[in-house]
Amino acid sequence: MRFSIAPSLLSLPLLAAAAAAYAGVNHQVTVGKDAKLVFDPPTLNAAPGDTVTYSFFAKNHSVTQSSFAQPCQPLAGGGFFSAFTPNPATDGSASPTTFTITINDTKPIWAYCGQTNGDHCQKGMVHAINAPTSGTNTFQAFSDLALKASTPSGSPPDGLPVGGLRKLSVIVGFNGTLTYSPNNITAPPRTVIEFSYNPKNHTVTQSSFDSPCQPLDKGFSSGFIPTAVSPSGVTFDIVVPDTNPIWFYCGQIVGTHCQKGMVGSINAATSGAKTLEAYIAKAATAPPSTIPPQAPLGGTITVNGTVITSFNGNSLQGATIPPPANPAAGNASVPAPGTPIDPYYYGMAGGSQPSNYGWGASISDTSVALLAFLLFIEDVQANLLFEMHSRLDNGSWASVYPRAIVDTLGSMAAQTLVQRSTTTDCLTHFKKPLGNQCSFKLPTTSVDDFLAAALKLNLLEIGALIDGITQVPLSDSYLLAPLASTIGSKARMTAVINMMQNHLAAAAPREAVMPAQLAWSYVMTNYVSDPNCPTKISGMPGSPYPALTVTDKQVTPDQSRTTAVTVSFDSSASGDKWVAWMGAWGDLEFTPLAADKTTTVPADLYGHVWIAVVSKKDVAMKDVPGVTVAGPEIVWVSQP
Ligand SMILES: *[C@@H]1O[C@H](CO)[C@@H](O)[C@H](O)[C@H]1NC(C)=O
Ligand SMILES: *[C@@H]1O[C@H](CO)[C@@H](O)[C@H](O)[C@H]1NC(C)=O
Ligand SMILES: *[C@@H]1O[C@H](CO)[C@@H](O)[C@H](O)[C@H]1NC(C)=O
Ligand SMILES: *[C@@H]1O[C@H](CO)[C@@H](O)[C@H](O)[C@H]1NC(C)=O
Ligand SMILES: *[C@@H]1O[C@H](CO)[C@@H](O)[C@H](O)[C@H]1NC(C)=O
Ligand SMILES: *[C@@H]1O[C@H](CO)[C@@H](O)[C@H](O)[C@H]1NC(C)=O
Ligand SMILES: *[C@@H]1O[C@H](CO)[C@@H](O)[C@H](O)[C@H]1NC(C)=O
Ligand SMILES: *[C@@H]1O[C@H](CO)[C@@H](O)[C@H](O)[C@H]1NC(C)=O
Repeated sequence: MRFSIAPSLLSLPLLAAAAAAYAGVNHQVTVGKDAKLVFDPPTLNAAPGDTVTYSFFAKNHSVTQSSFAQPCQPLAGGGFFSAFTPNPATDGSASPTTFTITINDTKPIWAYCGQTNGDHCQKGMVHAINAPTSGTNTFQAFSDLALKASTPSGSPPDGLPVGGLRKLSVIVGFNGTLTYSPNNITAPPRTVIEFSYNPKNHTVTQSSFDSPCQPLDKGFSSGFIPTAVSPSGVTFDIVVPDTNPIWFYCGQIVGTHCQKGMVGSINAATSGAKTLEAYIAKAATAPPSTIPPQAPLGGTITVNGTVITSFNGNSLQGATIPPPANPAAGNASVPAPGTPIDPYYYGMAGGSQPSNYGWGASISDTSVALLAFLLFIEDVQANLLFEMHSRLDNGSWASVYPRAIVDTLGSMAAQTLVQRSTTTDCLTHFKKPLGNQCSFKLPTTSVDDFLAAALKLNLLEIGALIDGITQVPLSDSYLLAPLASTIGSKARMTAVINMMQNHLAAAAPREAVMPAQLAWSYVMTNYVSDPNCPTKISGMPGSPYPALTVTDKQVTPDQSRTTAVTVSFDSSASGDKWVAWMGAWGDLEFTPLAADKTTTVPADLYGHVWIAVVSKKDVAMKDVPGVTVAGPEIVWVSQP
């Protein structure tokens, strides 16, 4: 499987939105090519949703929207204007600046070059889109009006681009050189400067004039963009905010790029003390370069059309490094907790762990215990999901599910790794131990067994999180957002698994609260092969509760609902016993367990519920672990 920037659970809505938008045709128009005062083609037809891109040649042209009646004056009430685009090239090449408009309807659009030095418009340098081919308002009629127009031509008084995208392309590391091309940029505010990366491993980072090769506070930085291919498909876009000079450099220390002159400026003075030449000279003797620890900042990184909002650090490793030879080959490839994760998996997960956590000054013992429990259960999940994905992707179950489902499961596996990293990062940050790693006994027989285990692990984690999140002290409130987001992520996963399981929609999983001790016990009994593992988690019982098995079910005549269950468990505890039912939305009910170990299902329970045999009834959820005799186990009480 190959998906370095993969559709994932997180990005699906985004992809759907992108697909819904009409991808129009892009029409190209040259402005003043071959030293001629013409737009080529002078007139064209375009549909709503299409774009038209103007590229500018020597000398110094604009494309400005007018009315039909006044060809050389800006459209009253505001039309588009590219701003003037001088092109000093003497070899006839296009300016790195282009201007792109989007066509919104089929009405005629009239335009001209506003250059007064030589009266370009009055010499016939005009242009039209969707001009009528007959009647009075033809392109020929417009062109004739321009030849007779009075001088001088008009332009929007502020001189700034409007009504379209003015973009200046800068090549980073052209042909292996330590350069930005161009490096000496003049661009009006609102211009997008687009940096395109080439080998090997460059940054575009803003500095002040006085401290070249050091990041400017609140300035932009692309981060390191390592690439072996040219063009890489990676771009960094910034928008020129005003007319103040902007200074930037490459922060690569290997080869001292900045000091060797890999720097540039936007709107620098051409004389005086602060010219680009002066900045280059200052950079030559600057101390070793640094860049901010996070990227991208102050601009947008796009990889072959996909926007990357955040890297894990300041280097775009994931998108350019090929995936590991065997990315999902079962439990052997799941990295141990706390070890670095191959960036390939961040792509698979549709995002990395947070680069900036906003942790508080301290962490309570309660929260540490909760995190230790999460690490434990997320580690089992990661191992299960990777093994499952590997079999579905290219193993014994390769043809069981459609590719989209297999990829979604792969994304879930990768997201579980990211969640586990967030947990270990937090424990490590507060210098708390990660404990030892367990070996697992995972179901091996069928896809259905795997799905059932994946679902149970998700439901156990959701249940324990809903319970645990209420016990996080206010001093650890920084934990609430990641914990709540994990609940959301696991809830999405249960929905996907539920669809794969072919159950009726009515049985869709809902969230049942589950004390962490019971969840821990279930995982220990069912999925952990080494009973001394993991290292004791604070608050957990000394050993797992005895296992609980459902041996019989009574159902309604139409078999649509379970009305009673018979259980078996291994316990010598004497006295009356009850079954505690833990259902959706925090429901907790108790039914007496008869001598034959049968009990009736509460009438108002539906879907997945967890049960435990207890020695005392009507206790609060937090007190259930203290009275548990055996369990828990999951039961379907409505239509399976
Ligand atoms: C380009 O033309 C505009 C309009 O005539 C003028 O204001 C501007 O100074 C010119 N730029 C250059 C570099 O010649
Ligand atoms: C099309 O609509 C957009 C959004 O309102 C506007 O910015 C743009 O200028 C319009 N294009 C033209 C050619 O008028
Ligand atoms: C790229 O660099 C090579 C080696 O320095 C040189 O021979 C070649 O002419 C350069 N190509 C361009 C387009 O500058
Ligand atoms: C890119 O350069 C940075 C800084 O030297 C380094 O940390 C990173 O590992 C490099 N990436 C690659 C793929 O070489
Ligand atoms: C972008 O696409 C090009 C062409 O398919 C490919 O060579 C390049 O590796 C891609 N870039 C990344 C970063 O994946
Ligand atoms: C930058 O361009 C200006 C003119 O626009 C020129 O005077 C100056 O020498 C150039 N500087 C460099 C370093 O190319
Ligand atoms: C996990 O790894 C062990 C040891 O390499 C192997 O025996 C087992 O089959 C793998 N898969 C599962 C599902 O346990
Ligand atoms: C599937 O696995 C086999 C053996 O490991 C390998 O040769 C093959 O290339 C894999 N196919 C895909 C599509 O990854």
